[in-house]
Amino acid sequence: AIDIKSLYGEFDAFTYDPGFTSTASCRSDITFIDGDQGTLLYRGYPIEQLAEHSNFLEVSYLLLYGNLPQKAELENFTDSITRHTMVNESLKNFFNGFHYNAHPMAMLTAVVGSLSAFYHDSIDINDPASRDLCAQRIIAKMPTIAGAAFKHFVGEPFVYPKNHLSYSANLLNMLFSRPSEEYKISPVAEKALDQLLILHADHEQNASTSTVRLAGSTGTNPFAAMSAGCAALWGPAHGGANEAVLRMLEEIGDVRNVAKFIEKAKDKDDPFRLMGFGHRVYKNYDPRATIIRDTCHEVLQEMGMENDPQLELAVKLEEIALKDDYFVERKLYPNVDFYSGLIYRALGIPMSFFTVLFALGRTPGWVAQWMEMVADPEQRIGRPRQIYTGAAKRDYVPVDKR
Ligand code: ACO
Repeated sequence: AIDIKSLYGEFDAFTYDPGFTSTASCRSDITFIDGDQGTLLYRGYPIEQLAEHSNFLEVSYLLLYGNLPQKAELENFTDSITRHTMVNESLKNFFNGFHYNAHPMAMLTAVVGSLSAFYHDSIDINDPASRDLCAQRIIAKMPTIAGAAFKHFVGEPFVYPKNHLSYSANLLNMLFSRPSEEYKISPVAEKALDQLLILHADHEQNASTSTVRLAGSTGTNPFAAMSAGCAALWGPAHGGANEAVLRMLEEIGDVRNVAKFIEKAKDKDDPFRLMGFGHRVYKNYDPRATIIRDTCHEVLQEMGMENDPQLELAVKLEEIALKDDYFVERKLYPNVDFYSGLIYRALGIPMSFFTVLFALGRTPGWVAQWMEMVADPEQRIGRPRQIYTGAAKRDYVPVDKR
């Protein structure tokens, strides 16, 4: 057997914490969550106030630089983001190399990583001005990349960014406008999308942000670190949950089946889980879910979809689950993704594209956390240890003697 003491004895305490449920990996000034109270603050500001009064670029500034911008600061920041929306024309070839039905997250992860090839030696991560430029570039280019991934996915010509539009209106335009017809941006859709981006903008050390920090802690190119964040976000336990919610609603099919699926979710021998329910940190209503639920009703009403059967299903599911002892005892409440998919669908966004929009929203958080980490003198390379449980030392045996 392995002598653990001799291996790990150099430490007074050695923590085994799978899933890092009680391990802080860093100090951070950016986002505060009180999971029991259902509180979420960005730089001290309640998410409810930001969702109601702010906009995504102002929130991005807040996350990156710590305070709400003065008017001139916001104008300069918005101007800089607007001037960096273009991506190199040669990236078109990269998109065209993808199979027509490639998952949009596969394209996003790859293309975001490829930006490191365009900015590989021009970034000095130790220079704050260089970090700022890099931060603004990535926030500016994400919608362009997302728009191109979408157009490739639906087989339509790419739409270039339009700099007179707001961040969210520009995104909608790149997704939905076509050369053959005029596309009118709905103010309700623009506002709802902007709000969804704000609500997803940061959430302290979640899996994708921790991945960005871990990758970034090696000093790697920041675009490569963001690409690692996209990869981590893709999974159904994280950013893929809203897609999974709609697939689940499709599977349930009818309100009469809700009770049966609630029972399935409680059955430990059944892998089915109620998607969009439960959260590692929130043991109360996810405050983002409350806001999104209201927006969902507004958007669907605006689109004439207030009697949408999937909305009816979601409401029923929530109603029953919140009264069920299994969910009450485990403090499982709807999370941010329970209603967001219904809004995206009402905006005309296909399911497999939902996580791309999550990535877009999370980008300022990833970048802010990366900037904070790089500037932190206490930060070292992220290097977890393990408890080794494998074979004890043994000698190699040639293949003919085994
Ligand atoms: N449906 C049914 N049971 C659930 C669910 C669910 N959605 N979520 C948790 N549970 C149960 C578990 O089976 C476990 O029960 P047990 O104590 O009897 O074994 C208990 O609640 C605790 O769950 P864990 O899996 O230990 O909690 P963890 O913190 O590891 O997981 C997670 C959190 C991944 C979010 C989980 O709740 C889940 O899978 N939810 C569905 C997927 C989802 O909505 N993900 C989005 C998260 S939010 C985001 O990324 C933006």
